[in-house]
Amino acid sequence: MSETTSREVRLISRPQGLPTAADFKITQTKLEPLQDQQVLVRNLFLSVDPYMRGRMNDGKSYLPPFELNQPMEGGAVGEVVGSRASEFKPGEVVTSTYGWRESFIAHSKDLHRVSRGVQPLSVYLGALGMTGMTAWAGLKLGEVKAGDVIYISGAAGAVGSVAGQLAKLKGCRVIGSAGSIEKVAFLREECGFDIAFDYKIGPVVEQLKVEAPDGIDVYFDNVGGESLEAALTCLRPHGRIIACGGISGYNAENPQPGPSNLFNMTTKRLTMKGLLVRDWLDHQTEFEKEVGGYFKAGQLKHKETVVCGIENAVSAFLGLFSGQNLGKMVVKLA
Ligand SMILES: NC(=O)c1ccc[n+]([C@@H]2O[C@H](COP(=O)([O-])OP(=O)(O)OC[C@H]3O[C@@H](n4cnc5c(N)ncnc54)[C@H](OP(=O)(O)O)[C@@H]3O)[C@@H](O)[C@H]2O)c1
Repeated sequence: MSETTSREVRLISRPQGLPTAADFKITQTKLEPLQDQQVLVRNLFLSVDPYMRGRMNDGKSYLPPFELNQPMEGGAVGEVVGSRASEFKPGEVVTSTYGWRESFIAHSKDLHRVSRGVQPLSVYLGALGMTGMTAWAGLKLGEVKAGDVIYISGAAGAVGSVAGQLAKLKGCRVIGSAGSIEKVAFLREECGFDIAFDYKIGPVVEQLKVEAPDGIDVYFDNVGGESLEAALTCLRPHGRIIACGGISGYNAENPQPGPSNLFNMTTKRLTMKGLLVRDWLDHQTEFEKEVGGYFKAGQLKHKETVVCGIENAVSAFLGLFSGQNLGKMVVKLA
């Protein structure tokens, strides 16, 4: 790549069910000379995230659909290589939402400077980025406190692994589920979860009843489906559900039935709150101070799975739906 060209990933068709490589294409574009207040950024890491699947569909949602034949938007960390804005100098590191491109030109107001001293820089896409903030905000939304028994699904992923560690720091008893023996070991041995189980080896509800015989106070939902139904069974009266994600249904071609035991919401007087991390952007400074402090003090582990090269960004994204990642899935660019 020279300084004036960039490869980028574009969505070229709206997937039905699980996306395939044929729904995307990589194109090379030429970058124009910088105008006043513009900055040229070379990306170092791209984020691939489950929510992007929703943006591949047409139709109204909390974010607009990705435009066909346009570069896909998303979180990225990059280095300033040229600038006509006094606020940014070459060599500085910035985050953006310009997404799946090797290099791009942005208006300075669309960039957020971060410290190069924090390593790896990909942490700004994970524990200190959008997914870490989701975990932090979710615990606040669910009013999670010391002594709570909290169950987290999708626990070995970007949001789940941070949510569990932060809940431990708050003094909770933390139970996590994930899709392999290796992930279960990671949760127990590296993230400090009290209990972790593999949701693929038996019904979630049976495993959860064994691991939490007296029930749970909070459920941090990253997957929906069977795990949500199990949590509704195991929640104690006045329990809380943090509705963060439902990845088990993101590729469904038809609407999925809701939990068969939803009436437990009534009989147990449960509360379920929907979480959108973008509602919490006003709390960015508070998040950075608190969670950044834990990270710098070595109290919070940032685990990631790194895939190299923009040509592998699509397979990294698809890997989220078959559990290829431990921690945050990121794409490293040369
Ligand atoms: N509300 C918000 O503002 C917000 C913000 C960020 C993320 N989210 C949501 O939070 C959830 C986690 O996001 P993340 O970025 O941390 O992703 P992630 O957990 O790092 O990656 C996705 C993981 O989901 C699991 N998975 C895939 N298909 C599954 C299925 N059918 N059933 C159960 N688990 C499945 C896989 O782990 P296993 O190997 O364990 O199956 C995979 O590693 C997603 O639902 C995402 O959409 C919400």
